Amino acid sequence: MTDVAVQSGTTTGIGPSPSAPEAVPGIFAASGLLADGARRLGEARLRTRGGHDLPFSAARWHAPAAREEVEVLAGVRGPVLDLACGPGRLVGHLVKRGVVAVGVDAAPDAVAAAHRRGAPALLGDVWHTLPLEGSWQTVLLFDGNIGIGARPSDLLGRCAQLLAPGGSVLAEVGRPGTASVSTDARIEWCGWRSPWFPWATVAAEDIGAVARAAGFGVLRVQEAGGRSFAHLTPVAELDVLEPDVAESPKERREMLASDVAAA
Ligand SMILES: C[S@@+](CC[C@H](N)C(=O)[O-])C[C@H]1O[C@@H](n2cnc3c(N)ncnc32)[C@H](O)[C@@H]1O
Repeated sequence: MTDVAVQSGTTTGIGPSPSAPEAVPGIFAASGLLADGARRLGEARLRTRGGHDLPFSAARWHAPAAREEVEVLAGVRGPVLDLACGPGRLVGHLVKRGVVAVGVDAAPDAVAAAHRRGAPALLGDVWHTLPLEGSWQTVLLFDGNIGIGARPSDLLGRCAQLLAPGGSVLAEVGRPGTASVSTDARIEWCGWRSPWFPWATVAAEDIGAVARAAGFGVLRVQEAGGRSFAHLTPVAELDVLEPDVAESPKERREMLASDVAAA
């Protein structure tokens, strides 16, 4: 990569973005990617100003829960709140299993698509008041959603407000060895380009520091199907915080310098 700088494996690169988090939901809603029948979803990209692709899989949003997601969700306790649920495939899977689960998404297309597949979902914004705050046993942040607003610690702090005592967050994170970035990105799809909006990625090795900053500890990072999922719980809930890969000394890693310059 030509436009990278080295970032220590701390959370130093995961800070506030100049853009308001509120910019994000409208952009996803406007993209059309969440609507039923959207075509050529595999061509959608999430690109940084430096031209780098961030993980993004719009085609997955309309598919059933993937095998690895089924595996990771096997042990979750309800009631489950799927934050930024998209077209509701995870909630749809959970309710079929008999788990009480609800999705929330700021895009009307996503909520409508969720309802069509029989998944309970509400129109709402992660950053605004949500139903039954303080009552959810599990909050999900799948498929890059930990990047919403480019402030992963703030987002986890928001999750803490939603959790019931003893609850936990299950957040997909980047594979070990990937970069943690806080950046502006945009969706590019079949010639359409969204405005820039704040987004972040958190690598598995960095979730410990991000979680700590929000008062969470990492129970474990689960690998499944080539993806990584962090099980997090408020530190106050832990008698003993298990050592974990995410708590190990940090590696130095790359960060997209052009994004830093642009921020
Ligand atoms: C990466 S997609 C999520 C897909 C879904 N989690 C899945 O795994 O199928 C991102 C979703 O976040 C939603 N979103 C973005 N910002 C949001 C916000 N502030 N509040 C609620 N939803 C938001 C978008 O509308 C979009 O559906």
